[in-house]
Amino acid sequence: MSRLNPAKPFLKWAGGKRQLLPFLREHLPVEFGTYHEPFIGGGALFFDTAPEQAVIADYNLRLVRTYRAVRDNPDAVIERLKNYPNDKEFFLALRAQDIDCASDDELAAWMIYLNRTGFNGLYRVNRKGGFNVPFGRYKNPKICDADNLYGVAKRLESVEILHADFRSVEDRARPGDFVYFDPPYVPASNTASFTAYTKNGFGLDDQAELRDLARRLKDKGVAVLLSNSSVPEVHALYAEGFETIEIFANRAINCNAAKRGKVAEALIW
Ligand SMILES: C[S@@+](CC[C@H](N)C(=O)[O-])C[C@H]1O[C@@H](n2cnc3c(N)ncnc32)[C@H](O)[C@@H]1O
Repeated sequence: MSRLNPAKPFLKWAGGKRQLLPFLREHLPVEFGTYHEPFIGGGALFFDTAPEQAVIADYNLRLVRTYRAVRDNPDAVIERLKNYPNDKEFFLALRAQDIDCASDDELAAWMIYLNRTGFNGLYRVNRKGGFNVPFGRYKNPKICDADNLYGVAKRLESVEILHADFRSVEDRARPGDFVYFDPPYVPASNTASFTAYTKNGFGLDDQAELRDLARRLKDKGVAVLLSNSSVPEVHALYAEGFETIEIFANRAINCNAAKRGKVAEALIW
């Protein structure tokens, strides 16, 4: 496996792994075939690893279309972003746009702009898919980081970018490949009810299917690494046939200021 020049993540994503990279790097196999990341989000580990052969995927179609636009047409994305001001009126007007009908490059500029200028740089939508993060009031956000976007485009040149459910990785991963799973986490709060698990579309049943899938992949000779919250449900799920360690991350993206700080995560393989 050889590595290409790294580019940085271009979107901040809740659950981003930048802080945990030193721990994640330690648990990457020294050699592997194709790198798979079925819950790509901001892609911190993917960009850090810079694998030559990779398949990245996510269930969020806007995110997937954004990655594709940056890969296929960085000039058009940059051209749009260059003209977008850090202004509340503009932010609100853009936020209200019916973006799913727009072209990929327009959608990508929309995602990147809102991510850079929105509060805390997070992606959050209501049930109808409407983006509802308020204006962030940053003095001088880097709305258009053209150098990095060109770097990302180069980095993504040979990468397959799929709009897919995580389960489909089973058909793609071959013995000797590596899969990093960073799913929506089991909620860390004890007060979260069972229905809260399903509200984000990823319930305990999905967590159990993910565990079973990871086990089958290991059995077939695929190296796996998984992240999740360090809560009893997760430790119970991975109690047999997996190694688990606890690592600590600083969580900057949390709407509740009291909940920012060090959070325990489980790293599983
Ligand atoms: C915790 S985030 C990933 C964070 C990312 N690894 C990073 O470093 O920024 C989880 C991602 O899983 C995606 N997702 C949720 N359910 C999914 C599913 N069933 N299949 C694939 N992706 C899914 C979400 O859209 C989200 O982008």
